[in-house]
Amino acid sequence: MTRVKLDDFLDKPEFYRDPYPVYHELRASDPVHWSEIMGSWVLTRYDDVVATMRDPRRFSSAGRHALSLDRLPAEVRKRAKPIYEHYAVGMIHADPPDHTRMRALVNKVFTVRAMESLRPRVQAIVDGLLDAVQGDGEMDVMTALAYPLPVAIISRILGIPEEDNDRFRYWNEGVNELTATGRTTEANLARGLPIFVNMRAYLRELIEKRRRDPQDDLLSALVQVENGGDRLSEEELITNYQTLITAGFETTMNLIGTGLLALLLHPEEFSRLQADPSLAEPAIEELLRYETPFQRNWRVAAQDVELGGKQIERGQLVAQMLGAANRDPEVFPDPDRLDIRRDSGRHIAFGYGIHFCIGAPLARIEADIAFRTLLQRFPALRLKHENVDWREQIVFRGLNSLMVEF
Ligand code: HEM
Repeated sequence: MTRVKLDDFLDKPEFYRDPYPVYHELRASDPVHWSEIMGSWVLTRYDDVVATMRDPRRFSSAGRHALSLDRLPAEVRKRAKPIYEHYAVGMIHADPPDHTRMRALVNKVFTVRAMESLRPRVQAIVDGLLDAVQGDGEMDVMTALAYPLPVAIISRILGIPEEDNDRFRYWNEGVNELTATGRTTEANLARGLPIFVNMRAYLRELIEKRRRDPQDDLLSALVQVENGGDRLSEEELITNYQTLITAGFETTMNLIGTGLLALLLHPEEFSRLQADPSLAEPAIEELLRYETPFQRNWRVAAQDVELGGKQIERGQLVAQMLGAANRDPEVFPDPDRLDIRRDSGRHIAFGYGIHFCIGAPLARIEADIAFRTLLQRFPALRLKHENVDWREQIVFRGLNSLMVEF
């Protein structure tokens, strides 16, 4: 059997429209696969992905960005030093005990109760956004709802002034240049680095302001929070705060966009949800499984490890393909079928283990209110074009635009 090579697909637009056939082939023929272009092992089996996520001792979260940059020429790497330093101190890129300490501090302010209290605000924002397009007969769901909703909510929680909300897209583009393409190049660096530096300067200033004049927001709480004598250092604050911003909206935006598209492409599921809104909860889990918004996570082998018959060397990158794992037929029978009534509870769209997504309750609330309100207010919602505009990158699965009529 000729083995499929992921590298042959990374420049093909059709791969990004539907990557799952390639992932199925990889899983069947070479589930622990080496990608030269990504510079990492690529895992597509559910069990392998979970095994690496539950084992931070052997599969570390630290140093991931540094490694992806190691392939750049030395002088370029020198320029990229601020990126290494930035990511090195954040919770998402830390192992225990640092991770445990930071997560405990952030958990103190990012509670399920605090998130639940946001429901009325989420509803008001969704209503306002949909009021604005109701009379138009059509909308681009991405710009009308999927993008502005999570941005408004996360800025509210994090205390970013409303007039600065436009910066999110710009920052996100910069951070994505550096992290989301799956391959850092000189060109990505030239585009992303100035934005990155600018974002850090903004956040540092905002933190200073909150230190001097605390407000009713998460940043002020994070600046003050202490746990057994511990608090976040200024550098830790900046990095964790940046993670909350970018992790908090790109993924949620994609869930709303690709989730709605999946429903529109499966009219029987759409109608089922419309007829019985109590299905929203399982439907959202199924949509998270079916079009996993954050598709490629990664770890670094902290020691030589054998996995699936392959020898992974200490210091090598391991890409955990969450979208592929969530379509593993060993765990989800008939995985390419969207079925909002199926039990998707084992999906790993929010990760697994100690780094399990801290924002999962918030993302679920936003998706719940967005889908319920959309289906209720626009019962005849349909796609405007057959061709939808997928983003061509492997880390996040999302749409550039989604035109619908109603
Ligand atoms: C549909 C929406 C979302 C998806 C699919 C998602 C996915 C994920 C995944 C897969 C991880 C695990 C990363 C790892 O193991 O290295 C993660 C971690 C994280 N997520 Fe989310 N996320 C979403 C929404 C959010 C939101 C709304 C926030 C914040 C407001 C957020 C903040 C974080 C943070 C801070 C971490 C790191 C936790 C840690 O390292 O302990 N995410 N997310």
